[in-house]
Amino acid sequence: MARAPSMPAATAVGIVVVMLLAAGFRGAEGKSCTNAFPGLTSHTERAAAQLRPGPPATVLQPIIHHHRHGREQHLTPTDESTWMSLMPRRALRREEAFDWLMLYRELRGGGGSARPGVAAGAFLSEASLHDVRLEPGSMYWRAQQTNLEYLLLLDVDRLVWSFRKQAGLTAPGTPYGGWEGPGIQLRGHFVGHYLSATAKMWASTHNDTLNAKMSSVVDALYDCQKKMGTGYLSAFPSDFFDCLEAIKSVWAPYYTIHKVNW
Ligand SMILES: *[C@@H]1O[C@H](CO)[C@@H](O)[C@H](O)[C@H]1NC(C)=O
Repeated sequence: MARAPSMPAATAVGIVVVMLLAAGFRGAEGKSCTNAFPGLTSHTERAAAQLRPGPPATVLQPIIHHHRHGREQHLTPTDESTWMSLMPRRALRREEAFDWLMLYRELRGGGGSARPGVAAGAFLSEASLHDVRLEPGSMYWRAQQTNLEYLLLLDVDRLVWSFRKQAGLTAPGTPYGGWEGPGIQLRGHFVGHYLSATAKMWASTHNDTLNAKMSSVVDALYDCQKKMGTGYLSAFPSDFFDCLEAIKSVWAPYYTIHKVNW
């Protein structure tokens, strides 16, 4: 007499499949030097990419959108099941799953509103950083000031030192250390972060001193690009890319140039 597979057998098959999948993922991560774009590492970006309508998202899409429009990246949820899957299933009790779905419907303004007084779609709306100011003296304002003061401490000549060297221009001052150190293959990376941070901080505060500083950095980078004459702009030589193409050991040139040029 034939018997249905017992539960333990089914569970064992499940575990083997999970282990094989895990091994596959680890293999992909272990690959260090390929010409392929790395997978999205941020959970939010990955979720946003899945939710975006249209052709399958590339890694660049969310970032281009983000910088060209100078806005925060927002989820554009189109599908309730995708929205629900953003929450780890095990973390949701039944009522919490229901709340999460109600919140989603409210955000979309698509009926099922839990608040009769709230007009559909009025629950949340996008605001530009230029139009939002934190309450002076508040905890959030103090945190923002700390960040602002840190950005103001950074020195223009030191930030662009390796870019000037690379372009063959005179480079006054001393370069920063760490990842910005002149012998480090990731140099210039932090400058990309600086450009994003100062742009957002300026939009959030309109601090003119910061504006002058970030403009000086952009001007200096522009001078470097003009001097190099090919359009290339980086704090490291272009043969780092050749190394990567030849599967030789080199530290993330695409990632770094993307930080600076977008
Ligand atoms: C910019 O911010 C700094 C730090 O809060 C402040 O001391 C300075 O007065 C501000 N400068 C301008 C022009 O707003």
